[in-house]
Amino acid sequence: MAQDNFYHEPYRPQFHYSPPCQWMNDPNGMVYYEGEYHLFYQFNPAAMTPFKIHWGHAVSPDLVHWQTLPIALYPDDNGPIWSGSVVVDANNTSGLVPGGGLVAIYSYENQSQGIAYSSDKGRTWTKYDGNPVIGALAKDFRDPKVFWHEASQHWVMPIAAGPELQIFVSPNLINWEHTQSFRGGILGGVWEVPDLFPLEIDGETKWIFLASISQLAPAGGGGVQYFIGDFDGRTFTYDTDAPQLWIDYGPDNYAGTTWSDLPDRRVYIGWMDNWQYATSLPTAPWRGANTLPRELRLVRTADGIRLAQSIPAEFETLRQPLGTWDDLTVDGDLVLEGVEGRTLEIIVEISASSAERFGIDVHRGAENKTRIVYNTAQSKLLISRSDQPAEGVINNFTTAFGAPIPFSAEPLRLHIFVDESSVEVLAQDGVFSITGQDFTNAADKGVALFAEKGTLEVKHLEIYALNSIWGADSDAARRADFDFCAG
Ligand code: FRU
Repeated sequence: MAQDNFYHEPYRPQFHYSPPCQWMNDPNGMVYYEGEYHLFYQFNPAAMTPFKIHWGHAVSPDLVHWQTLPIALYPDDNGPIWSGSVVVDANNTSGLVPGGGLVAIYSYENQSQGIAYSSDKGRTWTKYDGNPVIGALAKDFRDPKVFWHEASQHWVMPIAAGPELQIFVSPNLINWEHTQSFRGGILGGVWEVPDLFPLEIDGETKWIFLASISQLAPAGGGGVQYFIGDFDGRTFTYDTDAPQLWIDYGPDNYAGTTWSDLPDRRVYIGWMDNWQYATSLPTAPWRGANTLPRELRLVRTADGIRLAQSIPAEFETLRQPLGTWDDLTVDGDLVLEGVEGRTLEIIVEISASSAERFGIDVHRGAENKTRIVYNTAQSKLLISRSDQPAEGVINNFTTAFGAPIPFSAEPLRLHIFVDESSVEVLAQDGVFSITGQDFTNAADKGVALFAEKGTLEVKHLEIYALNSIWGADSDAARRADFDFCAG
């Protein structure tokens, strides 16, 4: 490990959060408190594999730039600390934080639930001495995501329980009462990492219950599903007419939940990975990264109400314009000469196409590329990572995956974020999301439009290079992280 290229190693995300070193899985306990966005995460400080999990910790002023802080929660006599949430206990309902403070509610590896508290903005934590506050009531009973329900004047805890999602309520974060179990038509595997929150549409409040399902997601392995419905403080009722709804159609967006206590928006972040191959990624000295944060809103579509996602405006501060084009006709490959980068933002509107397949190549080199491709026969927008160098071909790494998006009357509108080893595509104003890691080489940095067996009309195209969040101004943070990793 060398200090000069620390955070600039091959494949290192340049504008996504990844831990300085070692293993990371789920994001945990996201909370906004006194001007700071907190991000905790499942962390093994001893190896690049998941074992004896702790809660790592980072804070950000803007959701873009992160400073890694010392480990927040260490394993204790009850065991390693699995996923969970953090709330602001402003009125000290727990009696643990006089004057107000943070309370973490999490699972132990043995599937009982514990709590810990902090009165110094999350810098130091004390475990509650009556832990666990809920025993291991089911085989896979975990990942409490707690929030305050103002109308009921109590805390609400959605929690996964194997094939069920359950709800508990509490006046004080310590004594919990079970109020609901439901299955949501589980497809297979187990539920993990639920979240429950309100969003408004046309002046009406709807509640979104989201949860990760460990198997049978559209791209293989795990994925995040959501249900839209109503919540009365004790029970969630969902609109069962909707089909399975997915936060993402790619393989690399799992165990995601939203920030607590944000005053003005609902922001989601997921683990940009998949348990099918997470322990085999060719990265070092770290393994694991998060998706970009995504602002969630409800929209009406022809199919009904859906979640839509957008990237927070704060990310525009990273932009370096590379070019804007209008009314391009593409026939075959159109390499955008002089437009290159490993880290890019691309906004494109495609108005018409007679091609069988068309789209955009990124991370394009002489031999490798990652392709964002619309397949007309399938009516699907896909990310294809079949042209990767040998190191990027990992066991169980699906090579193409995507979302069913009709393309005829409505133009295809894509918002694409390309980092060193990932591609995130938001389509149709964020109603569809496709997220996938890719492992191309540093020299693979070209961009091309393509149309196969037909032509493509591009109404508008805008491309930016994105600055690294690990630039010179982050030297102090990088040095501290290096020292932490060097032991
Ligand atoms: C999801 C998950 C959670 C669990 C954690 C353990 O990826 O399996 O259910 O709490 O990871 O690290």
